[in-house]
Amino acid sequence: MNRFFSCVSLACLLATGALAQDAADSVAPEVGSELGGFVPDRLKAAQASKDAGTPTQAERWMVAAAHPLAVDAGADVLRAGGTAADAMVAVQTVLGLVEPQSSGLGGGAFLVWYDAESGAVTTLDGREKAPLAATPKLFLDDNGARMKFFDAVVGGRSVGVPGTPMLLEEAHRRWGRSAWPGLLDAAIGHAETGFAVSPRLAGAVAKDAERLSSHPATAAYFLPGGAPLAEGSVLQNPEYAESLRLMAEYGADPFYTGEIATDIVATVRNADNPGVLTNVDMAFYQVQERDAVCVEYRDHDVCGMGPPSSGGLTVGQILGLVAPYDLAGMGPESAEVWRLIGDASRLAFADRGRYMADSDFVPVPTEGLIAPEYLAQRAKLLSGEKALESVAPGTPEFDHALLWGDGQSFAQPSTSHISIVDSYGNALSMTTTIENGFGSRVMARGFLLNNELTDFSFRSHNDGVPVANRVEPGKRPRSSMAPTIVLKDGVPSLVIGSPGGSRIIGYVAKTIIAHLDWGLDVQAAIDLPHLVNRFGTYDVESGTGAVALAGPLSEMGFEMNERDLNSGLHAISLGTALQGGADKRREGLAYGE
Ligand code: GLY
Repeated sequence: MNRFFSCVSLACLLATGALAQDAADSVAPEVGSELGGFVPDRLKAAQASKDAGTPTQAERWMVAAAHPLAVDAGADVLRAGGTAADAMVAVQTVLGLVEPQSSGLGGGAFLVWYDAESGAVTTLDGREKAPLAATPKLFLDDNGARMKFFDAVVGGRSVGVPGTPMLLEEAHRRWGRSAWPGLLDAAIGHAETGFAVSPRLAGAVAKDAERLSSHPATAAYFLPGGAPLAEGSVLQNPEYAESLRLMAEYGADPFYTGEIATDIVATVRNADNPGVLTNVDMAFYQVQERDAVCVEYRDHDVCGMGPPSSGGLTVGQILGLVAPYDLAGMGPESAEVWRLIGDASRLAFADRGRYMADSDFVPVPTEGLIAPEYLAQRAKLLSGEKALESVAPGTPEFDHALLWGDGQSFAQPSTSHISIVDSYGNALSMTTTIENGFGSRVMARGFLLNNELTDFSFRSHNDGVPVANRVEPGKRPRSSMAPTIVLKDGVPSLVIGSPGGSRIIGYVAKTIIAHLDWGLDVQAAIDLPHLVNRFGTYDVESGTGAVALAGPLSEMGFEMNERDLNSGLHAISLGTALQGGADKRREGLAYGE
C-alpha cells in the first residue's frame, strides 16, 4: 500500500513527510531536483525546501513563480523596495523568455490585487479578444462541423488580440513604485546573454517538434538546424530583447498601435491557417477592471476572477457546495470527502458549461451562481452516499431569461501562475497564458502568439439554442484561470493559483480545502495528490497515494482515470510570517526575505 494511505491520521502523514514524497515521485521528468544546475545560488535554499516538502519562510516579501530566473528577477525588484506589481512585470517578462511555451507578451492574463492601503480587492482582465471579423463559424469547417482541435489551434486563426503587454503597463501605472524601464532589465539581460534551456522546456519542444516546425520563425528558434533545443543549451533571443527595449521606452503602445502591432497582424494574416486580426483590433484593445468574485468559506473570503473567467465562480461554487459538510472531520484520506468534492465539482462545471462566458456579451448570472441560498439548495444534491447518476445545470436567480445551450471548449494544460506579497502588505495573484503549450505555434518579434480563441466553444449552438461561450466579434473567450486571494477579516491569508486548463479549478479548490480544512501548510497542500472531476470521469494523479482511492470511489459509482495531473500551483500564506509553496510537478520556486 502506498505510504500516504498507510497512515491513518493527518499527523502521521505530516510526520513521515509522506504527503510531500508522494507528489515528488509523481510526475517526472519535471520534478524540481532535476533543475539543480539552473537555480541561482541564492535560491538554492528555496529549492531544497521545495524538495523537502516544507514551505519557504520570509518576514517581509515573497514571490512564487514557475522558473527560478523569473523568481530571482522578482526578488531583485522586491528587495529594492518595489511593489508586487513592479515585481510581476519583471517576473512575467522573464517567464516569457524562459518558459515561452506557457505565457508571454503574445498572450493574456488575469490579475487579482489586494491593496494594503485601501483594503480593497481589485481584478484586472487582460484576456485576449476575438478580432472584429471573427464570426461564430470561426472553428466550423465548410460542412458546419467542428474543426479538429489542433487544426484550429496551429496557425493564425486561433490568435486573439494579446492583453498581457497592456496589463503589465496598467498594473504598474496603478500600483507600481519602481521606474518602468528597469523592470525589463532582467529579461533583456537574459535574452541578450542567453539562458540555459530547462528540462521542462527541452521536453516540451521535443514533444511538439512537428507542430513547432509549421511556422518558419518558430522552427528557427525552437528547432535550430532542425533539431529540438537541448536541455542545458544556451538560448539567446535578440528579437525579444529588442521588443522589450521598445517596451522599456514607450510602454505598451508599440504592441497596440506601433510597429509590433503591425508585425503581429501581418504574421497572423500570412500564417498557414490564417487569422482575421487587423490593426484596428489591436488599437482598440483595453484592459478591463472588473469586480472580484468572492465567496465565504470557513470564515474566510475567497476572492477571484469573474467573467470572462469561469475560475472565480467555479472555485466559489465548489467551496460553497461542500461548505455544509464536515471535510475537516473526515480528512483527506476519506473517499467520502472526495465523493463530495468530485460531485460538487461536477455540479459547478455543469453551471459553468451553460452560463459562464464574457459578461460584456452575454448576460451572466454572476451573483445568482454564488448566492448562498442557491448553493445551499444545490448542496443538498450531495447528501447521498453514491456518485450522482446525472448532473445538470441549476437555475440560479437572475433577472434575464437564461436559455442557453451547453457549450464545449478545450482549455489545455499550459499557462503559468505568479503569486507575490510585497513589503507594503500588497498581494498579487496573476494567472497568465498563451493557452496551449506554445500557443498558436506562430511567433512574432521574439515571442509566441496565443491560441486563446480556441477557448471559445467551437459550436455556436446546441440543439438550436445559442451557446453563451460562442465566438463573437470583439468577445473574450471564457477562461478557467483562477487567480485567488483568500482573506481573513479583510486581510490576505493565502495567495494562490495554478495553470492546468480547466483542471485549474480543481487544483485551486483542493489546495484551498487542504489549507483551510485540513490545516496543511502551503507546500503540503500543494503536494497533496490531486483528484479532479469536471465532467464525470474522476482523474486521479498517477504514482501517488490518491490511486488507493480509485477503488472506493469506483464502488460509489465514479468512472476513474489514472493520469498525470500537471498543476503548477504557486502559493503564499500570510500569518505571523510568510510561507511559500511551489509545485513539484513543475520547475518553480517560492522565495522571500
Ligand atoms: N487558456 C487557459 C484558460 O484560460 O483557462
